[in-house]
Amino acid sequence: MRVFITGAGGQLGRELVSQFERHDHHDVIAATHEHLELSARDAVLGLITATRPDAIVHAAAWTAVDACEGEPDRAFAVNMLGVRHVAEAARRVEAPVFYISTDYVFDGSKDEPYVEWDDPAPASVYGRSKLAGERELDPGSTIIRTSWVCGYHGGNMVKTILRLAGEHDELSFVDDQRGHPTFAEDLAVAIKQLVVERRPGLFHVTNQGAVSWYEFAREVLRLSGQDPDRVRPVSTADLQPPRPAPRPANSVLDNAALRNSGLPLPPDFREPLERLIGRLASDSAAATGA
Ligand SMILES: NC(=O)c1ccc[n+]([C@@H]2O[C@H](COP(=O)([O-])OP(=O)(O)OC[C@H]3O[C@@H](n4cnc5c(N)ncnc54)[C@H](OP(=O)(O)O)[C@@H]3O)[C@@H](O)[C@H]2O)c1
Repeated sequence: MRVFITGAGGQLGRELVSQFERHDHHDVIAATHEHLELSARDAVLGLITATRPDAIVHAAAWTAVDACEGEPDRAFAVNMLGVRHVAEAARRVEAPVFYISTDYVFDGSKDEPYVEWDDPAPASVYGRSKLAGERELDPGSTIIRTSWVCGYHGGNMVKTILRLAGEHDELSFVDDQRGHPTFAEDLAVAIKQLVVERRPGLFHVTNQGAVSWYEFAREVLRLSGQDPDRVRPVSTADLQPPRPAPRPANSVLDNAALRNSGLPLPPDFREPLERLIGRLASDSAAATGA
């Protein structure tokens, strides 16, 4: 298969390229931001019609949630109009689109995990722009909503927690925002299966195991051999300074469509977390010559 991947330089994009290319030997067109500006219609149409992929995985987005709040036009130009251009190009080459979306399409007020048939109600500009992106897609496309993405490539919360643990005796994390931490490698494997099987529709795809950020930070310390009691719970209201974009209190996405379709669910997040911590520790040992 020839697979066109947008956002190929991002934390998920790099795992997607690796899964499709190195593990499965598909022909990959890796469109990084450097090669393709999503908000430029001609560029998107030009590159996709020239390369004629069999499928498009649209992983690029402006993901700076707080910055989106202050620049809604830019957020919508990339996260909504970008999808419009990708969908238009896909129509021309008759390729299905697999769009990566987010838990931020929900406001987090539900008491139970969110299923695919819950009505979205985004509370932030980022969430509204990503939902608007979902609505640009043709029927027959696939939407994959995920949450709390971490991985080997790029910056993420695991690296932040480990860095803070090296700098401070005590760490504070909120205990009133819950979600499913999701590791880019497991997410890329699940996306690849949906692409190869050409499954249309809306899927929530996350690792399993719901935690608050406080509980997640404790797991990171525990699995890296440090004392989890160094992490202290705080409430979102106590964060200083407050963050510009509201976060959903409940970000837990039930993978109901995967489960009810008989597709494998990504494992509990502690498995990939332990692997990632091991990999980061070996990198740091190699860098210091230990
Ligand atoms: N991270 C999360 O926790 C999370 C949670 C739920 C859903 N998602 C979704 O998952 C997908 C992948 O996210 P990620 O975590 O891999 O984010 P990421 O690391 O920020 O990757 C996004 C990529 O998109 C590129 N990009 C940004 N603006 C662009 C533009 N105007 N034109 C072309 N490319 C552009 C970025 O390039 P530059 O960095 O060079 O700008 C970056 O390489 C996104 O669709 C995101 O909305 C992420």
